[in-house]
Amino acid sequence: MTELAAEVSGDFAEAVLAGLALPRKVIPARYFYDQRGSELFEQITGLAEYYPTRTERWLLQHHAADLERLAGRGRPVVEFGAGSAAKTPLLLDATQARTYVPIDISGDFLAEAMEDLARLRPNLAIMPVAGDFTRPLDLPRLDGPLTGFFPGSTIGNFDHASAVDLLRSFRTTLGKDARLVIGIDTRKNAGLLEAAYDDAEGVTAAFNLNLLTRINRELDGTVPLDAFEHRAVWHSGFGRIEMHLVATRAVDFTVAGRRFALREGETIHTENSYKYTPEEARLLARASGWEPLAMWTDPDALFGLHVWTAGSGEAQP
Ligand code: TRP
Repeated sequence: MTELAAEVSGDFAEAVLAGLALPRKVIPARYFYDQRGSELFEQITGLAEYYPTRTERWLLQHHAADLERLAGRGRPVVEFGAGSAAKTPLLLDATQARTYVPIDISGDFLAEAMEDLARLRPNLAIMPVAGDFTRPLDLPRLDGPLTGFFPGSTIGNFDHASAVDLLRSFRTTLGKDARLVIGIDTRKNAGLLEAAYDDAEGVTAAFNLNLLTRINRELDGTVPLDAFEHRAVWHSGFGRIEMHLVATRAVDFTVAGRRFALREGETIHTENSYKYTPEEARLLARASGWEPLAMWTDPDALFGLHVWTAGSGEAQP
């Protein structure tokens, strides 16, 4: 499934045309995040069923003193995929960071979020980078060592091989003696997992379906939205939640002048969200050249917050 995750290269049109031409249709998840998609995702993070956001916030608050000690006090913080940067103040305050470098693919959304943050933290130097963190990026000149921040279990949206590649590239980007504060969702029972990706209000469904709206708008598509529905399913063998858009009847449509058809029940696979046991998370760190310093979970083990170091063999910062 390497063609699925956010590592696919090429622009939106290329990715959609290639993905829809495959025997098992896929659209890379990175294209969820247009303006509307980013807004819907913000709504998802507030849903009762969506435990990751509030649990990770609790962990960041509960371990503020540990973060100051382990993540490096006063270091510039580089956030990969900043989005609305809702959790960022928790880490910035815990580590007393004075410089913040948010990286996000949705430039407009990032700009808005940064205006809010600048009002909240007037003394913080904010140096936004609009871009795709899965590709090599030039960071502004910073006084290292740096602390990376990768919350929200975004790492779970990459298959295992791509996750290792990505975490290695973070290590290169962040440089010598870096730390990484990373949120990784845990394996747990299927009911809780599936509810988190298929909420009662239908916000996650709207988020998934927005991809089709975006195709129609930006790629001159004729996809009939009423012929698709959202599906989220847990695969314990793969250790992942899969999100699909299911054709509820036979459909055909065009995208950028090319014709595509789906049978009833055929799906477009739009996202994976891998979950990790503590052992798997530790393996992921080591395979990526990082050394785990700490891992915390909430009392129900719903979510994991980890601090890793790039320094080889050192136990303390
Ligand atoms: N990375 C998070 C997760 O997998 C957030 C996320 C990405 C998400 N895409 C999503 C959440 C789609 C719900 C639906 O949980």
